[in-house]
Amino acid sequence: MTCGMCRQLHRQNNAGETWCSHALGRGSSSIFVFPLALGSTSSQIVGREVTIDDSVDRGLALVHSCTVFRKVTTMFPRAIWNKRCLLQSASKLRILTSSASTAHDKQYSGDDGSGNWSFVHGKKPGVAWIVGVLGIGTGSALWLRNEYSADAASLQDSSDFEVDAYGNWVQGLPEYSLDDVAKHNDMEAGVWVAFKEGVYDITSFIKKHPGGDKIMMGAGGSVEPFWALYSVHKHKFVLDLLEKYRIGNLSKKDVGVSIKDLDDPYASEPYRHISLKPSSKKPFNAEPPLPLLVDNLITPNELFYVRNHLPVPVIDPAEYELEISGIEVEEKALTLEDIKKFPKYTVTATIQCAGNRRSEMVKVKPVKGLSWGQAAIGNATWSGARLYDVLKAAGLDEDKTEAVHVQFEGLDTDPGNMPYGASIPIEKAMDPRGDVILAYEMNGEEIPRDHGYPIRVIVPGVVGARNVKWLGRIEVSKDESDAHWQQNDYKGFAPSVDWDTVDFKKSPAIQELPVISGICDPVEGEKIKVNEEGKVKVRGYAWSGGGRKIIRVDVSADGGKTWQAADELKSDEAKHPRAWGWSIFTAYVPVSKDAKEIQLCAKAVDSQYNVQPENFDNIWNLRGVLANAYHRVNVKL
Ligand code: MTE
Repeated sequence: MTCGMCRQLHRQNNAGETWCSHALGRGSSSIFVFPLALGSTSSQIVGREVTIDDSVDRGLALVHSCTVFRKVTTMFPRAIWNKRCLLQSASKLRILTSSASTAHDKQYSGDDGSGNWSFVHGKKPGVAWIVGVLGIGTGSALWLRNEYSADAASLQDSSDFEVDAYGNWVQGLPEYSLDDVAKHNDMEAGVWVAFKEGVYDITSFIKKHPGGDKIMMGAGGSVEPFWALYSVHKHKFVLDLLEKYRIGNLSKKDVGVSIKDLDDPYASEPYRHISLKPSSKKPFNAEPPLPLLVDNLITPNELFYVRNHLPVPVIDPAEYELEISGIEVEEKALTLEDIKKFPKYTVTATIQCAGNRRSEMVKVKPVKGLSWGQAAIGNATWSGARLYDVLKAAGLDEDKTEAVHVQFEGLDTDPGNMPYGASIPIEKAMDPRGDVILAYEMNGEEIPRDHGYPIRVIVPGVVGARNVKWLGRIEVSKDESDAHWQQNDYKGFAPSVDWDTVDFKKSPAIQELPVISGICDPVEGEKIKVNEEGKVKVRGYAWSGGGRKIIRVDVSADGGKTWQAADELKSDEAKHPRAWGWSIFTAYVPVSKDAKEIQLCAKAVDSQYNVQPENFDNIWNLRGVLANAYHRVNVKL
């Protein structure tokens, strides 16, 4: 079998295990992770067999070696971001590094020569930079941008090991300056990088992993700045792999200079409510406690889940401008005040992450992504100008237009200065009843920074990913957004598709989400009371995309053998097909007399009589999106 990543043949050992030239093992029926002989400087990478649960717990739920490798590579682009100008080219990197050298030299004057040194800004060395190194030359830049945050979150809890043991001076190796390294920033001259006191020639690695032309940003420079972002990501296997490419030592005068003056891109993140449970802190991704979620039809701003792919941009409202461009519209830049001059509309709309309830799907088979529970969803009132009005005022005629999509760009950018982006079909954007708004208020207050201050597009009924926050640009176009999150993420696939066979072009971008429900009270494992009537109380939410209203939620207290409709279904007044908000249900379900443990289940039915699928086996997909099977909660009585 050929590895989908490096296109080389998998090898097989006597035990029937196979692996490819990444030296990352693969089990025929099991999962491998590659790690971590503590303190070892060996360049050999050894596969270890783990169970699915084990790997999920560790956040290393990797189907096989290629997947492991992808995990490594995907972090690179995030890892190299910082002040935008910094890493756009090797020469710029050089300028920065040399300007920082004097101060840095002072800092390290007390170095005992062991090579152990502390990083500026108090960052501990992580491995993201090497992830970056490995990312160079591997896969396309867009793919690599894939869901850094998810990977980061899943990698961060790996075993401890001594990062200090890596990148140290090796007696007998030639010495190079950063200028020497900088001369090797393309395939012709060879691709070198520096880490701590080490210089590495990764040209052969890149040759084996073609397609990295867009991600050579770290070539010819020190990879230390990457630590500034991903200090928590320590993976010995990555460092071991880098060590294989060691060719020399970095001149003492150049060691560490490149990280001087780098700010933490997350230094200006907003305050977050303590009850939000983060699944990743940088970027921030978090969901509220379940029982709180269904106490009210409207989710309070502070408790609304947060899904950020990048650092939250700092935006001065006085300077803020929203660019409008594209076909058939007059190009303009609207200030906040301009936007507020349009008639103000308020819609109640639920926003749900495509990965909501992923943590259940993962039990079938590992997937790639943040492990969301069932609270990556919230319901709020949003007020702002209708997109329809704004585009109409810019000259767009919905009856005559040849535009097919409306693209959105956020003001949050990745290391390559690429903004978060997404698009929606013109039919939705220009439907006066589609209720797409450029929102400046959330639940009657200024939109909080985490949720898109000062302007965010609200696309009711459509997956969270298209509800672009910190909106900086709108483009009317014949084309879909080419952003990673539109093209190479947030798509569904058949259960048989894996990371070797996936072709993101073959699936359309998710827009309207399918019907879903989530039991929030009680929670998994809870001991609950049976009332005098022999019933248990169950509360939760139900929602469907596309403006479909929830007409019923069925609840079971015997694992789905018998069902009854929920006693109470609360929602706002909106009707199909403009029912953008969720419903909260309460059910009192009879339990069998002697039962000590039961499984509660919920399944919702929407106004088109769509109902949730029974289990995850049939809807599993490699990104863990659209996880809307019956919701099951095991409780004790
Ligand atoms: N917009 C920008 N600019 N950047 C982002 O990272 N995340 C998207 C969407 N809009 C995102 C964005 C995703 S994937 C989701 S699920 C929602 O915002 C989350 O919105 P929330 O954080 O307000 O709950």
